[in-house]
Amino acid sequence: MNIVYLNGIYLPMAEARISPMDRGFLFGDGIYEVIPSYDGRLVGFDPHMKRLQDGLDAIEIRLPVDHAAWREVAGQLIAQNGGGNLGIYIHISRGADIRRNHAYPEDISPTTYAFAFEIPPAPVPEKAAATCYTVATTEDLRWRRCNIKSTALLGNVMHYQHGHALGHKETILHNEAGELTEASACNVFVVKNGIVATPQLDHQKLPGITRLMVLEILRRDGSIPVEERVVTMKELKDADEVWLTSSSKEIAPVVEVDGKPVGNGKVGDVWLAAQTLYTAHKFDF
Ligand code: PDD
Repeated sequence: MNIVYLNGIYLPMAEARISPMDRGFLFGDGIYEVIPSYDGRLVGFDPHMKRLQDGLDAIEIRLPVDHAAWREVAGQLIAQNGGGNLGIYIHISRGADIRRNHAYPEDISPTTYAFAFEIPPAPVPEKAAATCYTVATTEDLRWRRCNIKSTALLGNVMHYQHGHALGHKETILHNEAGELTEASACNVFVVKNGIVATPQLDHQKLPGITRLMVLEILRRDGSIPVEERVVTMKELKDADEVWLTSSSKEIAPVVEVDGKPVGNGKVGDVWLAAQTLYTAHKFDF
C-alpha cells in the first residue's frame, strides 16, 4: 500500500524524494487535480485533464497533458494500492532550480507526482444516509486568480481552518459585495422554491468538475431548473437548501449556516433528486 508515482517511476511513498529547491515547495508554483475513483472507475477524467491543461497553460508550464498517459498512471495507482474508493491526486510543479529566483526559469523540467488516497464511499441518494454539513461563513480573502487550481492553497487552508476552529467542516466565502464565491474546498449551490442556483464562473472561484457535471446532468434531465448567476449572502441565509459540491463529496447537503438551520434544517427533496441523477450519470463524464 502507498505506492506513488514520481517523475515516471512507481515507488513507496516513504522513498519518494524531491529537491528542496523545487518551486512547488518554495513558491507553491504548480497545478494539481483530484480525481475520484470507485472500484477502478474514474469520475470526470477528461474534464479533470482539461482543467489540468488550462492550469498549466495559465502559469506557462509547457507540458502537454497526455490523457492516455495519465489514465495509465491513475490505473496503476489504483491497481497497486488495492482499489476501492480512491482519490487520485496529481501534482505538477514547475520543477527544481539551483537558485531561488521569482522569474520562471527556462531550462528546468516539471516535477510530476501522483498518489492515491482513500475517500469515503460514494454518497447514496437516500436522505437518511446523507453526510450533512454545518458551515461557517466569512469574507473571501484569497487572491483574484481562484480559477487556477494552484497548489498554493494557504488562503484556502486558512479559510477552512476558520470553520474548523468553530466546529465545522467547511467555510462558505463571500466577496466584499456580499456575493457568494465558493467554499474553501468546494463549490456552493442554493435552492429556493425548487430552483437551483450557483455563482457564475469567474476569477473568484474554481471551475469545479462536480459543479460542471451537476449543471450538465440537471440540464440534460430538465426536471429541475438551474441558474448560474450572482448569488448573495442574503439568498444563502434564505435558501430552502444549500449544497456543497466537490469530487469526493459529490453533492453534500448543508443543514446549518452560521448556527442557523437551512430551511427546515433537514436534507431536502431537491438534493435527493439531484444526487439521484448524479449517481445515475456520473460515469458518463
Ligand atoms: N477541492 N473549489 C475549491 C476551492 C476546491 O478546492 C475544490 C476541490 C472545488 C470543487 O472542485 P471539484 O468538483 O473539481 O473537486 C471547488 C479538492 C477536492 C481538494 O483540494 O482536495
